[in-house]
Amino acid sequence: MSLNTTIFECRDVGMSFGGRAVLDGVSLEARPGEVLGVVGPNGAGKTTLFEILSGRLRPTHGQVLMDGRDITALPLHQRARMGLARTYQSPVVPEALTVGEVFKAARQAFRPYLTAHQAEWAAHQVGLAVPLHAPAGGLGTLDRRRLLLACLLMRKPRVLLMDEPAAGLINAEVDEIDGILRYMARELSVAVLVVEHRLELLAAIAERVIVLDAGLLIAEGSPHAVFDNPRVRAAYFEADTDDGAMAAEQATPA
Ligand SMILES: Nc1ncnc2c1ncn2[C@@H]1O[C@H](COP(=O)(O)OP(=O)(O)O)[C@@H](O)[C@H]1O
Ligand SMILES: [Mg+2]
Repeated sequence: MSLNTTIFECRDVGMSFGGRAVLDGVSLEARPGEVLGVVGPNGAGKTTLFEILSGRLRPTHGQVLMDGRDITALPLHQRARMGLARTYQSPVVPEALTVGEVFKAARQAFRPYLTAHQAEWAAHQVGLAVPLHAPAGGLGTLDRRRLLLACLLMRKPRVLLMDEPAAGLINAEVDEIDGILRYMARELSVAVLVVEHRLELLAAIAERVIVLDAGLLIAEGSPHAVFDNPRVRAAYFEADTDDGAMAAEQATPA
């Protein structure tokens, strides 16, 4: 497949909860080998958008397409079969299992079972270097993320949705995660969509970003172009949460 081909998209997506619009008219397109950032202050609707893209929520309006096929009504597991994978904001692992047991469960989650070799391959791709007998519950945040990512990667997904993969990581670990995201996009040709509320974190990894504010797509372009966009700056400076204000300060171009 050509790297310029759209593999995954949504069109005019709207979502209301109890009559309150949380997303309105959001469209995006993702291509293999590309990291697409989805940014916006807390409450902008980023996680809700990922719930819709992954199939956990049905939108009140609009479509989700993969390989040009309308998958808006397809349940999660069927999307997974098509090559769509998703990680969550908090890296929840089965605390009582060992790393080896987590891999085994992941290998047997779909038919036909994947091989131990495929699990090893995936662990290697994300740089997970912990013994198989280590308890998953004893892993730090970065290794938890690596473990969960390896469990997805062993199925060779073509589209990967990641909700705030840098949450809870210290700076050096954020660099590690950035490296993994870039690797998955460039070397494994995955279309990587990443949610992040801190704009500055996306400059290093995303070719393109879309900016959501109060459910609306207010800007789209290279990270640097959107940093300078007055509407984006206003959205961050007017955000009434501490996080929003902090993100705005950190987003100030050097
Ligand atoms: N299941 C739900 N029911 C009602 N409101 C919701 C639900 N999920 C999210 N929201 C609301 O939608 C808005 C966007 O939330 P969210 O998508 O989590 O934003 P973000 O991930 O950008 O911080 C928030 O105001 C949130 O309170
Ligand atoms: Mg969120």
